[in-house]
Amino acid sequence: MPFYQRLGDLPRKRHIVHRDNGTLLTEEVMGFEGFSGLESILYHLQSPCRVIALGEFEPIVRTEWVPDAHAHRHLRTWDVPPAGDAVTGRQLLMWNNDVEISLCRPTELMEGFFRNGERDEVVFVHEGTGVVETVFGDVPYKNGDYIVLPRGTTYRFAPADESEQRYLVFETPGLITIPKRYRNEHGQLMEHAPYYHRDIHPPTELRTHRDKGEFVVKVRVRDGYQTYVIDYHPFDVVGWDGYVYPWTFSIHDFEPITGRIHMPPPSHQTFAGPNFVICSFCPRKLDFDPEAIPIPYHHSNLQSEEMIYYVDGNFSSRKGIELGSVTLHPTGLPHGPQPGLAEKSLGMTETHEYAVMCDTFNPLRLTALASDLDDGKYMYSWAEDATTGNGRTPDDDPAGITSHF
Ligand SMILES: [Fe+2]
Repeated sequence: MPFYQRLGDLPRKRHIVHRDNGTLLTEEVMGFEGFSGLESILYHLQSPCRVIALGEFEPIVRTEWVPDAHAHRHLRTWDVPPAGDAVTGRQLLMWNNDVEISLCRPTELMEGFFRNGERDEVVFVHEGTGVVETVFGDVPYKNGDYIVLPRGTTYRFAPADESEQRYLVFETPGLITIPKRYRNEHGQLMEHAPYYHRDIHPPTELRTHRDKGEFVVKVRVRDGYQTYVIDYHPFDVVGWDGYVYPWTFSIHDFEPITGRIHMPPPSHQTFAGPNFVICSFCPRKLDFDPEAIPIPYHHSNLQSEEMIYYVDGNFSSRKGIELGSVTLHPTGLPHGPQPGLAEKSLGMTETHEYAVMCDTFNPLRLTALASDLDDGKYMYSWAEDATTGNGRTPDDDPAGITSHF
């Protein structure tokens, strides 16, 4: 999607004869908005519709947790039990009609192939290296990568041997895009954007498979999973071109923006979705005015929910927060630095934290998994009296770090 790309063998023009060893190839236009949106054109050895058997339709079941009280939440996700593969292992944490946010710690290899037929996906790789094998070619990934998988992309995760895998997964019925304000009218990323086209990595190598057999493809459709068996390898493409394809962007390539006084969260925006944004918080110099308070002012998210996933940083000096911690600051409540923290922050010159934030403009619903991971204490961590509510001191609680955002 970020720019025009091509791989493999293509004919001179669209919609003309293209052969492989004398065999006429099957041209597939994969696109959005009828025939008006972004598209790619793929040339298959065989029709991609060669279904020989239908499996069961498996509806998606979500177990909602409706908390007794509306409050800030801190979920400890690091020890969530590993399960399944890169798709079946997704454990839904929170969702609304615009986005689903899941944890995934896969331990199994995908037996078949997967295609999300109704959602774009962003897979943030907290831990793990490997390759996503796709119909568009290989997409290598490593720690810190966001893997963007447009709907319609048939894929299979192939983790590197012995590589621990830990993902944060976003799925949306809308389109994942690069924020419009980063691009000029021609689509090029402008000088003020926090990343450039060279930071975006499309598929590296197209592998054309020529195997007959029985290949299981699971497709997410109609809020469930439908399994199909086809009689030819789904990665039978000899060439493709266009604007629709999977790609990666590393959080380590996000160029943070620093101001003389505090810069607001939109300066950290990485992706846009319908009614939500995904932001990257990266190591950076802090605000440099002699009188600047380098951590945020309190803010009330009157029309948004703020979910932050803690990735890495100087957590040893900040008790309470952990790798994989998730905080949720829901609609209608103010939040900010704990008492005393603004004073403590004066003179700080840099931060070394990494975090991924998702702000949604509609309320998020929580799952039973979120209930299991909820620490039940975070909402009290701003109280001036350290013994109020939970008996912990401000330094023991995570508001200090997450309220930086
Ligand atoms: Fe915030």
